[in-house]
Amino acid sequence: MRKPAKFLTTASAIMMLLGAAALAPTAAMAVDEELAAKGKKIAENRKKGNCFTCHAYKGAHLAGNIGPALDGIGKRKTKKELYDQIWDATAMNPNSSMPPFGKYEALSKDEVKAVAEWASTL
Ligand code: HEC
Repeated sequence: MRKPAKFLTTASAIMMLLGAAALAPTAAMAVDEELAAKGKKIAENRKKGNCFTCHAYKGAHLAGNIGPALDGIGKRKTKKELYDQIWDATAMNPNSSMPPFGKYEALSKDEVKAVAEWASTL
């Protein structure tokens, strides 16, 4: 069943407008706040991510400097790149002193995903 061309044109114009309005300002940087908050807890848990032992970032308490500061990292790296870095830093740098959290099962996939979401907000 073909619908009249005019209807299709109007409908797709509306869809495009709605889609553009919904996606335009935030598409690339959309943050799942709940997941990011969960990630922050994991990142700042000494028995889990313990990221601040090596990385400074705004708000980090008694941060170390073995790794680079993470401020602005969410603008320099995609969530996928952050995930990969946290999952297995040795894939990027075989001599990395950053523990391969995922590979060594220190963090689960969901935990690494949450930490990457949090890191994307830095
Ligand atoms: C034992 C120290 C150590 C810990 C703990 C650590 N890192 Fe790292 N991290 C490093 C080092 C060193 C680098 C620099 C790159 C390399 O040597 O692999 C790095 C690099 C990174 C990068 C890339 C930075 C850039 O500017 O490209 C990100 C992102 C990162 N770490 C996130 C984290 C997160 C999130 C955690 C906690 C889950 C964490 N790191 C825990 C040492 C650490």
